[in-house]
Amino acid sequence: MGELTRYSLKEVARQNGRDGAKCWLVIQDFVYDVTTYMKHHPGGSDLLEEYAGQDATRGFKDFGHSSDAKKKLKEFLIGELIEEDKIDNRKKKRGNVQTNEAVATKNGKRRFLSRLCGNCA
Ligand code: HEM
Repeated sequence: MGELTRYSLKEVARQNGRDGAKCWLVIQDFVYDVTTYMKHHPGGSDLLEEYAGQDATRGFKDFGHSSDAKKKLKEFLIGELIEEDKIDNRKKKRGNVQTNEAVATKNGKRRFLSRLCGNCA
């Protein structure tokens, strides 16, 4: 098998099944075009639609698909995520990013200080 085309999560997100777009899913860092499979999926097209343009790894695993289903994945494989968007790297990145809570605390403190002292707004 040759090199797989690399896609970013942003590119995948555009293929969300809406307005004539294709329906792409990410399962374990691989990108699948399930546009033609929607109406054949034994689990219904709704579930695939729900995940269109997104990472469906959790959904796919939680259902516990058969080995047949896993083999079927190959028919729809179109690419692989770029390194920085792979799940392990996404987790790492999130670890460095400030959480909403930390930002809220910081902003809250600043508001409190500026109320005490009119000079530091
Ligand atoms: C390319 C992606 C997918 C393929 C090829 C696929 C394939 C299949 C196949 C062959 C079955 C029949 C049972 C089995 O063999 O395990 C099935 C059932 C099912 N799938 Fe998927 N599936 C995909 C994605 C998903 C996703 C993303 C979800 C959930 C978010 C999902 C949820 C289900 C459910 C709930 C059933 C059970 C239907 C029932 O028994 O009533 N599938 N799928």
